[in-house]
Amino acid sequence: MKHTEDELIAAAAEVRERAYAPYSNFKVGAAVETEDGKIYTGCNVESASDGLTVCGERVAIWKGISRGETKFSRVAVVVDTEELTPPCGVCRQIIWEFCGDVPVILSNLHGKSETVQMSELLPRAFDSKFLK
Ligand code: THU
Repeated sequence: MKHTEDELIAAAAEVRERAYAPYSNFKVGAAVETEDGKIYTGCNVESASDGLTVCGERVAIWKGISRGETKFSRVAVVVDTEELTPPCGVCRQIIWEFCGDVPVILSNLHGKSETVQMSELLPRAFDSKFLK
């Protein structure tokens, strides 16, 4: 972990501004940090065909993976809600598979934040070990 929590949150808040969310108006920014300290960011990108919408968390992870990253150590998610917004179920599965049992920092735009471990967000997760 080469960045402070505040730096990771700031990166997620910045990319949140670029969210494409004309249908929900619910903008999400996410940042993932690699073990060697790189940050990849993502925002939600919606489609007129609802099911094609992609969440910010997955955009950030796909960006890292497509750059050849394999080891992620932390995730931050920023949404402008009073009650901190956790990742959706699909994103929990993807974070678990690609990042493992990492800390997930939930934050809003008013300086409120909380860190939750992935194993709390997705207990008894399904992953590749069951496919062997
Ligand atoms: N969304 C995310 O980007 N991440 C989540 O974990 C929850 C939901 C987005 C998808 C959609 O664009 C909007 O929030 C409302 O569901």
